[in-house]
Amino acid sequence: MSEQETSLKRHSGAAAFQYRGEENALDFLEGSEGERGADITRFRRNTGIVTYDPALANTAATTSAITYLDGENGILRYRGYAIEDLAERASFVETAYLLIYGELPSQAEHDGFSRALSDHSLLHEDMKRFYDGYPMTAHPMAILSAMVNSLSTFYPESQDALNLEERDRTIVRLLSKLRTIAAFAYKKLHGQPFTYPQNHLSYCGNFLHMMFALPTETYEVDEDLVKVLNQLLILHADHEQNCSTHTVRTVGSAQTNLFASVSAGINALWGVRHGGANQAVVEMLERIHADGGDVHKWINLAKDKDSDFRLMGFGHRVYKNYDPRARIIKQAADLTFNKLGVRDPLLEIALQLEEAALSDDYFIERNLYPNVDFYSGLIYRAMGVPTNFFTVLFALGRLPGWIAHWKEQIEDPSMRITRPRQLYTGPHQRDFTPMSERD
Ligand code: SDX
Repeated sequence: MSEQETSLKRHSGAAAFQYRGEENALDFLEGSEGERGADITRFRRNTGIVTYDPALANTAATTSAITYLDGENGILRYRGYAIEDLAERASFVETAYLLIYGELPSQAEHDGFSRALSDHSLLHEDMKRFYDGYPMTAHPMAILSAMVNSLSTFYPESQDALNLEERDRTIVRLLSKLRTIAAFAYKKLHGQPFTYPQNHLSYCGNFLHMMFALPTETYEVDEDLVKVLNQLLILHADHEQNCSTHTVRTVGSAQTNLFASVSAGINALWGVRHGGANQAVVEMLERIHADGGDVHKWINLAKDKDSDFRLMGFGHRVYKNYDPRARIIKQAADLTFNKLGVRDPLLEIALQLEEAALSDDYFIERNLYPNVDFYSGLIYRAMGVPTNFFTVLFALGRLPGWIAHWKEQIEDPSMRITRPRQLYTGPHQRDFTPMSERD
């Protein structure tokens, strides 16, 4: 039994079903918050049939001790700590440590971890040349994914995923360097010189400095922005078995190294149904604004099954209630806009859109609420981050979660390669036709 499974309770023979006249017993497993899952690991062996669950919507693909999510009641906890508490009281670095190592760090552990993050902030100088090859139109998520994968070539010792001695160093390298990779991508795409990391700055302060400082002017890191960014990164840091984390786990299950596994996760996050939604939300709000701002027209379009349009930043596979992160981000948006003195007509449209959707039967019946991506882009926009970089910031926030899941899985002695089955719907066996005889 794996370490994570020690808090699992097994209810032997909790259910039984008849198949072809035979009685089959099913055990139930119970997690630490009382969630129950039918153990179907021997189902095919015992019955000859597989279970069918497209998009894994009803499947617990793993046990995990990292994040607890109750979508019906809008509860999210990292390692047992409420997201509201962490967002209010913790730093992103503390949260990353908590997710990856399981406990909040002591002062000494925190200082050691922060120092290690500072020590590894530079990129190998040869990596800078990779940026020269990208066109100015490149999407930064493509750059991010390629650069993270390339880290494995500079640190070949990381390629042995089972190498315990190297694992912590690889983790710290990735956490530290993703900031630099992201900021350098911004500089490249804006035709500006790279700004090197300044290790006396905080994790978020350093990132803002690398993004926005220019050699021609003094750049003062705005501590209010640091606070907001810190909070946003914490809110994005993990979300149990979401698409990108599941991708990282799937790739990692082949004992693929951390850099390559996370690189795959970045690509999964890029899609508009997932992290790419924060970019899509602001593009949608811009479209509504340019169209005159009639939110009801767009709500009707989102409900129309003949239209491709969906309300970006709304709906969630697991939340059937208000996403607790969206609630915090909405408050943070108010504070940020007031502090920066920004008046953004898109915020007004977003508020109207939310109000109209939450009182519309279509959205009420389907439990469609704003998700984490609905307001986050508006804050990034107020901070001066360009729209196509929003998902990069999501990736920066999600990194500790990806690392924690990859690590949890690789340390589980019962880990097996992810390999689902399928129900084949293609042609029956047929004879090969030579090309000369084909129509
Ligand atoms: C993230 O999983 C995670 O944890 C992800 C995440 C994380 O932290 O990792 O929380 C981050 O990815 C947030 C989600 C960002 N994506 C969007 O905001 C894109 C818009 N949302 C949708 O495309 C959709 O709601 C999903 C992809 C988020 C969820 O898709 P599901 O679970 O497959 O739900 P579904 O598409 O089957 O929808 C159920 C019904 C359908 O209507 P019916 O066919 O039943 O009539 O609700 C409708 C859908 O058409 N619907 C929407 C809608 N979302 C769902 N209708 C209009 N607008 C929408 N946004």
